[in-house]
Amino acid sequence: MTEKKPHSIEYMGEARNFWWNDDYLELLAKRLNLAEKSVLVDVGCGYGMMGFLLSKFMKKNAKIHGFDLEKEHIAKAKKLAAADHSGKKFSFKVADAYAIPLEDNFSDITVCQTLLIHLKDPQRAIKEMIRITKPGGLIVAFEPNNMAGVLTIDQFSDLDLSVEEKLEETEMALRYEKGKMKLGEGFNSLGDVVPELFLKSGLKEVALWLSEKCLAIIPPYGDSPEISARVAQMNTFMDEDLSGQSYDKHLKYYLAGGGSKEKFDKYWKRYLVKTQQLAERLNNGSYTYAGGNIFYIVVGIK
Ligand SMILES: C[S@@+](CC[C@H](N)C(=O)[O-])C[C@H]1O[C@@H](n2cnc3c(N)ncnc32)[C@H](O)[C@@H]1O
Repeated sequence: MTEKKPHSIEYMGEARNFWWNDDYLELLAKRLNLAEKSVLVDVGCGYGMMGFLLSKFMKKNAKIHGFDLEKEHIAKAKKLAAADHSGKKFSFKVADAYAIPLEDNFSDITVCQTLLIHLKDPQRAIKEMIRITKPGGLIVAFEPNNMAGVLTIDQFSDLDLSVEEKLEETEMALRYEKGKMKLGEGFNSLGDVVPELFLKSGLKEVALWLSEKCLAIIPPYGDSPEISARVAQMNTFMDEDLSGQSYDKHLKYYLAGGGSKEKFDKYWKRYLVKTQQLAERLNNGSYTYAGGNIFYIVVGIK
């Protein structure tokens, strides 16, 4: 029997620590007026990433509360908090985003990062985030449109692309996302519609920014811990595809998204050939990728 892995564990590696540029976080801290905030809640906190990053800009004795469904993630977050000497107070607990164990009107700011994209009912979670936030407090969602990545191009020779192949890749990505949503596991490109969900939930002065971070891969990789971490993550994902470990998951979502097994298998065969070529470029250090992506910061006032 295969053991059930903690949610999103494959995306929680070292590369995630390089998702935000420090100077951009400073700008964000100014816009969110974090210097005046004492209590932050991070919902679906994973290892506590956003609480650790944002607390640096908050009041001296600020309290950070993180909640996540996975006890393994919470255990790791607690370990990181024990090693933190910033003077901020961290508390991490296992809890569901739909039922946060906090009283009404508790926090100055409530955030989530890549949580809503995984939920069957993101509106319900937003309402719960609003409930625990003080009137006049902020709700902030950091959520992507992951599908946009399908149309990025990673080598000059690909400008001579086959329109049919690009359309097929797009169909695969669309059916995967649609299938995941149909199975009740959320929508990976939800970021585009979070402002609408904020408004429907009664939030005011909804504002929107984009992260300016490019998740680039530029040789020579070894000179940069950031790029090395990204290369290592890519290698892990490619190994899973090439060894057949991820086939079932992709097929499951594709079928749920309305595709046929016959079409999927034809596509997967071609995809593996391309992945093998990419692995070789990555391993000889010649792969270059601009890493553009759409990652929204959506803010609303209660
Ligand atoms: C992609 S991870 C993001 C973790 C963290 N916010 C970060 O950016 O590093 C998604 C997280 O949402 C958590 N999660 C999923 N469904 C949840 C729910 N209903 N309630 C609380 N947490 C949930 C998962 O366990 C996982 O840690």
